Amino acid sequence: MAGNENLAQAKAARDDEFYTQLPDIERELHHYRQHFKGKTVFCNCDDPFESNFFKYFVLNFNRLGLEKLICTCYAGSPIMGGQLSLFDVEPTAKPGTPYKAVVTTVYDKDGDGGVDMLDVAELFKSGENELSELSGDGDFRSAECLALMDSADIVCTNPPFSLFREYIMTLVGHGKKFVIIGPSTGIKYKETFPLVRDGRLGYGFAKGDAYFSIPKENARDYAAGVYDEKTGLVHFRKCTWFTNLDIKKRHEEMILFRHYDPEVYPPYTNFDGIDVANVADIPCDYAGNMGVPITFLEQHNPDQFEVVGLGEGNLAKEIGITRDRTGRTKLEIEKNGKRSNVWARIVIRNKNPEEPRS
Ligand SMILES: C[S@@+](CC[C@H](N)C(=O)[O-])C[C@H]1O[C@@H](n2cnc3c(N)ncnc32)[C@H](O)[C@@H]1O
Repeated sequence: MAGNENLAQAKAARDDEFYTQLPDIERELHHYRQHFKGKTVFCNCDDPFESNFFKYFVLNFNRLGLEKLICTCYAGSPIMGGQLSLFDVEPTAKPGTPYKAVVTTVYDKDGDGGVDMLDVAELFKSGENELSELSGDGDFRSAECLALMDSADIVCTNPPFSLFREYIMTLVGHGKKFVIIGPSTGIKYKETFPLVRDGRLGYGFAKGDAYFSIPKENARDYAAGVYDEKTGLVHFRKCTWFTNLDIKKRHEEMILFRHYDPEVYPPYTNFDGIDVANVADIPCDYAGNMGVPITFLEQHNPDQFEVVGLGEGNLAKEIGITRDRTGRTKLEIEKNGKRSNVWARIVIRNKNPEEPRS
């Protein structure tokens, strides 16, 4: 089974127990360091005893200058209460009760100059930090968790994929800053598209390949190569980070070294624009609409390009893409008298094209 089908399966089964590895969190979040100073971070799909997000923010609490870290876990999680326990302390809440952790102070108790797992284990033994039962089930949509969200500045987690659309819209609805993991298909939702249009993808996973750990009993019938029994990791294709924090990448100009040539860039049959099959081949001197692979968004600089819309579906209709030969709203080209569709495209326009060569 292909990795992206795993995503669909996870969605259908409401099987959301995929745990993010610490190195992946470190790799992404070091780009955001300046945003965390003096801020309250909320990880709202994170059992502090399982989550590497919690671990990351505790270990880096002082370095980032965090004001507060809040973590809540969900009663629906089958492994709530520490099966993948990161720490050498047990939750004080009774089994099956979701709880919240609030951290405001992290001491370097063993005096080695940094914060390590020994210090983390001490966290809830001192009176300053709090580990307490939630009154509800810890659902991110519950009034209790929404109030915690409102008290926080930045939400950071890997949320349940099955609820991704609702999750991100909740963050947007509450005016939150966020850095979260999600399926790349999330780009295409009508609710999330306006976000990515503005250059809101993070640095992401190499080639979109993410490896999450799962509880052993969740290891179901994965196809060869998807689940690695030795590591306990499942391979998901097409995962990315979504963020509305400003990052350097959004301001880096893509160097364009190709020139427009009608022989190389075919026009669409059902839209006023040309097809650019590779992001690296975007011509520097074309002022009109260009359909480019969706991976373009990973390096989108909103000062350089305008994202006009999507190349298929309802959002494509909105920008004037008409039906193809099969009746679908999907970008189509014609080659040697034969029409065919192009692979998933996003339509962009260069904001400052060079003068065309005469
Ligand atoms: C993809 S896992 C990621 C867990 C953790 N954030 C991490 O990155 O390792 C999503 C988590 O969200 C929890 N979850 C599912 N539905 C939820 C809901 N409605 N509200 C809050 N958490 C939920 C699941 O139990 C699961 O632990």
